[in-house]
Amino acid sequence: MSEKLTGKPKKVMRLPLGSTLIGRTHAFVQIDIKQIRNSGYQIIRNFGTDVQEFEKVFDHISSSQLYYSERIGSVCHQYHVEVSSNNLSQQMRTGGFHSDFMFQEHPPEYIALLCLQTDPKHPFYGRNQVVAMSPLIQRLHEGFSLSLEALLERQLPYHFTNGQHFNLPLLSNIHGQLQFKYHQHLVTENKATSTYIAQLHAAMIDVAEDVCLNLGDVLILSNHHALHRRGECTVSHDSTKNVWNSRKMASIRFNL
Ligand SMILES: [Fe+2]
Repeated sequence: MSEKLTGKPKKVMRLPLGSTLIGRTHAFVQIDIKQIRNSGYQIIRNFGTDVQEFEKVFDHISSSQLYYSERIGSVCHQYHVEVSSNNLSQQMRTGGFHSDFMFQEHPPEYIALLCLQTDPKHPFYGRNQVVAMSPLIQRLHEGFSLSLEALLERQLPYHFTNGQHFNLPLLSNIHGQLQFKYHQHLVTENKATSTYIAQLHAAMIDVAEDVCLNLGDVLILSNHHALHRRGECTVSHDSTKNVWNSRKMASIRFNL
């Protein structure tokens, strides 16, 4: 896995200098749609840690198409790694490759992740990994002779404790556009699926790009054309304040 920094933007959405919503330092936040489509992500360095500004900037960029989550109860979700948690986004262990809100009919197109506090063992822990669609399709074909048709047709089962059951393929064709719907930690492994899932994960690990966010950096992910996961995280006890220090993030989902 290798880290790629942002290249020169091909398609630019420039925010107006005179906007009342946008702080001066964020007047040139630019979204490179082509880069995000191809590599799965873009990093904006030194955005800052003002969460209100984060919301305002992405509200502006998305023309007020921020994604409201019923479960979270807001458009912006702040969370931190905990010593013990049942919530997948707050655990120390490495997360599974996934797309967000995969069971929704229309999952949001993009995710913006703002680093509000780095991992105590930054930059070695608390990183992110991104799997772009094209390299994964190519790797699955080369390594396991899995065709695009197979990835579109082969159903993966998801069973939940409340009795709900879904079957979804890794890729869907939505109006001619390929889209990921997958969650490594939620998919049900059984005799019929274990080999296929192992092949998917091997290929994902092989093509994943490793991303390191510093304090105040923003990672913009494609939620349709990429899978993402959190790398392993740590916690550190501050005995003077009697608190646990850990990676803290804010996330916003949006459409363009
Ligand atoms: Fe996620």
